[in-house]
Amino acid sequence: MEDLAVETGGVADLDSLEPLWVAVHHQHQQAMPELAPYVSDKTTWRERRSLYHQLFAEHEPVLLLARDAGRLIGYALGYAMPVTGTWLADTWATGDLVAEVESLSVLPDYRGRGLGSRLLDELHERLRQQGASDVILGALPGNTDAIRLYERHGYRPTWIYLSRLDGRDRA
Ligand SMILES: CC(C)(COP(=O)(O)OP(=O)(O)OC[C@H]1O[C@@H](n2cnc3c(N)ncnc32)[C@H](O)[C@@H]1OP(=O)(O)O)[C@@H](O)C(=O)NCCC(=O)NCCS
Repeated sequence: MEDLAVETGGVADLDSLEPLWVAVHHQHQQAMPELAPYVSDKTTWRERRSLYHQLFAEHEPVLLLARDAGRLIGYALGYAMPVTGTWLADTWATGDLVAEVESLSVLPDYRGRGLGSRLLDELHERLRQQGASDVILGALPGNTDAIRLYERHGYRPTWIYLSRLDGRDRA
C-alpha cells in the first residue's frame, strides 16, 4: 500500500478510467445476475464517459487516481452541488451543499488492502473543503461488499429506487 500514489486527476484523464469503470460494471453483473440483461462493456463506458464529461462541464468534480508504479489501479470521483433541487432538500435537514460520490473502483488484484477506504477518505476530505459535509451515493442493493465498506464510513440507507424494467422486452 505504501508504494501506491494517490493524485488528483482532471478531464484529460477520463479516457483512462474505462477499464476501472468496466470493472464496476462487471461487479454489478456478478452481484445481481437476476437483473440481467445488462448493457455491453462498450455501452456502459459510452454512457459513463458522457456522464463524467457532463459533471466536469457543470460542476467542479474531484477525481482521485491511484497508481502503482504509474499504472492506474483505482479511482474515486465525486462532486458538490447545492442541496436545493436534490431529493434530500424536501425531506432532510442538511448543509447548503451536498456531495455525491459518483464512482469508486479498485482493480480486483488490489482489493481488500485498504485502497478503497483511502480513496473514500481523501474524497470526503476534498469535498468537505469545498463546503459539502453531507454525502450521498448510490449502490446496487446486492453489492453487499461495497455497501459494508460504505457503512463502515458512516453511510446509512436513506432513499431506495425500485425499478420495473419491462421496456427491455419491447426493445
Ligand atoms: C468497493 C471497492 C472500491 C473497495 O475497494 P478496496 O480497496 O477493496 O477496499 P478496502 O480494502 O478499503 O476495504 C475492503 C472492503 O471492501 C469490500 N470489498 C469489496 N470487494 C472486495 C474484494 N474483492 N476483496 C476484498 N474486499 C472487498 C469489502 O467490504 C471489504 O470489507 P470487509 O473486510 O468487510 O469484507 C472495490 O472492492 C471495488 O472496486 N469493487 C468493485 C466496484 C464496486 O463495487 N464499486 C462500488 C460501486 S457502488
